[in-house]
Amino acid sequence: MALVRSDILVIGSGAAGLFFALKASEYAEVRVLTKKKAEQSNTRYAQGGKASVMDEVRDSFELHIKDTIEAGCGLCDFESVEIMVREGPDRIEELIDLGVRFSRDDSSGTLRLGREGGHTRPRIVHYGDLTGRELEETLLRACASNPRIELEEDRLAVDLVVDAQGRVRGCLAILGDGKIHTYLASNTVLATGGAGKIYLYTSNPDVATGDGIAMAYAAGAEIENLEFVQFHPTCLYHTDAKSRLISEALRGEGAVLRSLDGREFMKEYDPRGELAPRDIVARAIDSEMKQSGEKYVLLDISHRPGDWLRERFPFVYETCLEFGIDIGAEPIPVVPAAHYMVGGVKARIDGTTALDGLYAIGEVANSGCHGANRLASNSLLESIVSAARCAALLKGKIEKDDYIPSDGEIPVAADPKDLETVILDHDWDLARRVMWDYVGIVRSDERLHLARQRMGQIGQTVSMLFDEYGISSDMVELRNIALVSSLVIESASLRKESRGLHYNMDWPERDPAMEHATILRRGQGRGPATTYGYREGTTD
Ligand code: FAD
Ligand code: SIN
Repeated sequence: MALVRSDILVIGSGAAGLFFALKASEYAEVRVLTKKKAEQSNTRYAQGGKASVMDEVRDSFELHIKDTIEAGCGLCDFESVEIMVREGPDRIEELIDLGVRFSRDDSSGTLRLGREGGHTRPRIVHYGDLTGRELEETLLRACASNPRIELEEDRLAVDLVVDAQGRVRGCLAILGDGKIHTYLASNTVLATGGAGKIYLYTSNPDVATGDGIAMAYAAGAEIENLEFVQFHPTCLYHTDAKSRLISEALRGEGAVLRSLDGREFMKEYDPRGELAPRDIVARAIDSEMKQSGEKYVLLDISHRPGDWLRERFPFVYETCLEFGIDIGAEPIPVVPAAHYMVGGVKARIDGTTALDGLYAIGEVANSGCHGANRLASNSLLESIVSAARCAALLKGKIEKDDYIPSDGEIPVAADPKDLETVILDHDWDLARRVMWDYVGIVRSDERLHLARQRMGQIGQTVSMLFDEYGISSDMVELRNIALVSSLVIESASLRKESRGLHYNMDWPERDPAMEHATILRRGQGRGPATTYGYREGTTD
């Protein structure tokens, strides 16, 4: 088993990991590991853009802070939100300096600002609806030309290496060819993104299996607020369309939601109509579908001219056309799907976690910026602000590290044996269906109880398979899906109220006594959490 050392190890090549690497390369050698091709990330698929106050006449930091905190339903960390909002414009200027393009007004050259749900002002900088691709590709180019950054593809981090004092020293990773390497560093930055794949239907690409949360939990970090899973209201409904988001920015440009019999229903649920925060829109759609028994609702922007739509939403336009839908002439069939993991590894906005040597930034982390619900386009903003803060924090913390792991400090990796694909696929599908059916947009005590039972069985089967058949990438991802699912179920079961993204029919009201984060920490073994606590008060 090879040992590879670096000053700083970054796991993940989305916006958070790459922007961090660029910043940290100013003072350190940085190694970035990523599990598939480098561009495969949630970042790449971002459409709407980045929220930020770029027009100080019509907008203000105070308003952006207020909108963010209001969406967060009492659970935002004010300091983190303030840092995210106030530092946003400078970070966006840095991205522009790196070469990231944003849509601009043809005559004046000023940035075009989009509008999305929950934002009281237009403040979304975007590049058509290809914002994520533009950002990811530019950051990757900048990293590729930086001699102090080593980016390795097809490296799936399996477990963190933790020394006898509880300090994180790097990770164990499985390579594309099945070999295992140990990567050591004095500082390890988790930037592994989200966990949309724990649900049957998701806007996320295949890499989003919650690996960072699973690894951090197993290493003893605190995992916070996992019950708050954001479902995007509008993903394309088509039997062959997988993970195709229809950006909220369409509603920002006037698209309306209708039932199949043509009723515009959103105002019946919220006076803000189509621009209500997305949890409200997703629940409204869910309720319409449950009442009518239909499999989807319609999103209609056909009142806008085709040429304008093609220019403003090139991705959505072409994607829909691929499936035979001309959005300039007809409505788009849409359904909600799991989209964003608000909770994650408990961290400060500079990435600091409860574990020495471990930092968490971007979607894998819960920095307190989003509380119980994330405002659209605040996530890329948080990722870059957090990455820059983390890089500034680690400057001066780079030590010459000659740590040699002793027996027991490197997790044991059994050699893989062949396992029939059908066996893995079965549990993979089962886990994701349980989450979709029982731990989805609307929950109940009964559904959570059943989910816990079913996930317990799946977890047992998976650990038995893991012990018996050893490490393979598919096995590690399945293990992580089962673990993260069980943590979401635990968190959701602890929250006996409805708040933000967590809606439980048996507890439909918000309870002021529960204005706390939910924190899970590992007990004995790797299985579901055995200790719980709340951020503000005592734990356990
Ligand atoms: P990611 O970009 O997901 O990157 C994670 C990286 O970690 C990937 O490279 C992945 O391969 C790697 N990785 C994961 N596990 C491992 C492992 N075990 N070993 C090695 N590597 C690993 N947010 C906005 O603010 N605005 C938007 O317009 C917007 N639109 C979105 C549209 C879609 C379709 C989706 C899915 C999300 C959208 N979001 C948007 C959310 C936003 O894109 C993400 O929250 C953000 O990009 C997260 O960045 P990240 O760097 O933390 O993670
Ligand atoms: C979208 O474009 O609708 C996604 C925006 C986001 O998730 O922030």
